[in-house]
Amino acid sequence: MEIKLTNLAMDFQQTKAVNDLTITIQDGHLVSILGPSGCGKSTTLNMLAGLYKPTAGEIYFGDKLVNQVEPEHREIGMVFQNYALYPHLTVLKNIMFPLKMAKVNKKEAFERATEMAKLVQIDHLLDRKPGQLSGGQQQRVAIARALVKNPKVLLLDEPLSNLDARLRLEMREEIRRIQKEVGITTIFVTHDQEEAMSISDKILLMRDGTLQQYTTPLEMYDKPSNLFVSQFMGNPPINIYKATVNKELKRVELKNSNVHIPLLGNVDVTKFPEDVIVGIRPESFVSETSSKELPQVSISINLIERTGRDTLLSGKIGEQQVRALISSKQQLGNVEELSLYITEFTVFDSETENSIWYFDGEGAQ
Ligand SMILES: Nc1ncnc2c1ncn2[C@@H]1O[C@H](COP(=O)(O)OP(=O)(O)O)[C@@H](O)[C@H]1O
Ligand SMILES: [Mg+2]
Repeated sequence: MEIKLTNLAMDFQQTKAVNDLTITIQDGHLVSILGPSGCGKSTTLNMLAGLYKPTAGEIYFGDKLVNQVEPEHREIGMVFQNYALYPHLTVLKNIMFPLKMAKVNKKEAFERATEMAKLVQIDHLLDRKPGQLSGGQQQRVAIARALVKNPKVLLLDEPLSNLDARLRLEMREEIRRIQKEVGITTIFVTHDQEEAMSISDKILLMRDGTLQQYTTPLEMYDKPSNLFVSQFMGNPPINIYKATVNKELKRVELKNSNVHIPLLGNVDVTKFPEDVIVGIRPESFVSETSSKELPQVSISINLIERTGRDTLLSGKIGEQQVRALISSKQQLGNVEELSLYITEFTVFDSETENSIWYFDGEGAQ
């Protein structure tokens, strides 16, 4: 089922929790709603669920306007952070519960519940009570219960937040597997950018109730719409420098330092504002380049941390802090000063903080 939101808004007294949100979620997609705490993720989800009535705007499920449709008639399944299982009921009875409420006959309810239990791989635990299960297993039960009525939409609000790191990883792969197997349109709320990157078809990134960008994970990472998006995505975070544009020499000059980066390739610098912000991801530094003539900067190194596949260099570029992530295959020795190439960077207007140009190696010879 395709979902369409048009100019959706939700006000609580003074708080504009969600502001003029217009997006389309494709049938069968998994879309993450991502953003810091309090940005309006749960409010958006609760409007989709019908638990909140929007202050303005429309929600369409397929062609049908559902603003006035009660939650129990929206054909949605919901999963929360705290599982919300019935502690006194067995796993089987928890999963069967929505069918019992819908007065589905017992035999059919049993069959559907066991089928769902198989799908989420807890069919060996049917007689246990929730208290006798691990967090990951409880969340599997909650997912089975959410799916047992064959809903058209699955809504998950930070479902992995209560799990430890290893289980979180396992369960996010599981959620993706189950979602693909069932083919259900799914909205997944999280504040964890890595989680959103790893499981989503598209990410909807919010800040203070306002949509920042809605696109695929890779596009959001490589082509952030603004400074906030670029800083929210990625760990270690993107390196950010204030700079001025030298239009004559076609380069950006980092403030308070002697560092400049040429603007190579097909770029119209006359349209650039005077003051910009340059964002360089840690992994956009490389120590070797095969053929291309890339911008090159000198980094004085304070700390080298080898973490298996990657080596994290911390140091200074001019007077500014820099973090660079390079392949551990590179031999560094005991260098204090290192010349690195920059393969990609983004230029932001320092006033609006919107992106104005992406250098992606294209145009470099
Ligand atoms: N029922 C409510 N009454 C008043 N304010 C609320 C209510 N629910 C959420 N808010 C406010 O709306 C904003 C967005 O909240 P929420 O959607 O829960 O954020 P998130 O899920 O992204 O952490 C916050 O400022 C929050 O305090
Ligand atoms: Mg929330």
